[in-house]
Amino acid sequence: MELDEIRKSLKQVLSAKRYLHSVGVEEVACDMALLHGFDMEKAKVAGILHDCAKYLTEQQLLEECHKYHLPVRDIERKCPFLLHAKVGAIYARIKYGIEDDQIISAINYHTTGRPAMSLLEKIIFTADYIEPYRKPLPRIEKIRKMAYTDIDKAVEMVAENVLDYLRKSGGDIDILTVETHHYYRDKIMIR
Ligand SMILES: [Fe+2]
Ligand SMILES: [Fe+2]
Repeated sequence: MELDEIRKSLKQVLSAKRYLHSVGVEEVACDMALLHGFDMEKAKVAGILHDCAKYLTEQQLLEECHKYHLPVRDIERKCPFLLHAKVGAIYARIKYGIEDDQIISAINYHTTGRPAMSLLEKIIFTADYIEPYRKPLPRIEKIRKMAYTDIDKAVEMVAENVLDYLRKSGGDIDILTVETHHYYRDKIMIR
């Protein structure tokens, strides 16, 4: 599917707020791709599609995982909303005809991140957090600056913010986010 078609189709399934967020991620991902020397078109596609399964209920997400034989980890069974990332990656392939593995993977890991991410994975993980239509978040201006100048530092800061928020609010923590934080904290320390 072309970008225009994807946007039209997403507009029909996502809430207005979620659609605006997706457009924001597309825009920021495009800017980050330009600044970090990545294919802007791919970044746009990954950005607009990253939450393409976010309209499903938790029950539906679990059902889709069963249907497509996607493994569900304990934390995902407990917090099924996490599954919108891996179901989104499958939807990108089958509903939107995306064949590019880099795009699929960036959608798959956009919520938790992971150690040693590809450039596009880092772009989408960060853009999801800093897009302009989100409500104000701690340290956001500093993270925005980093996103365009030092992407590893930006990833480390986003992961730290997410973990801080979950610790303060008593939310469940996905070990992958902790691993992402440790990996990028160590990476920026030894350089
Ligand atoms: Fe998401
Ligand atoms: Fe998102």
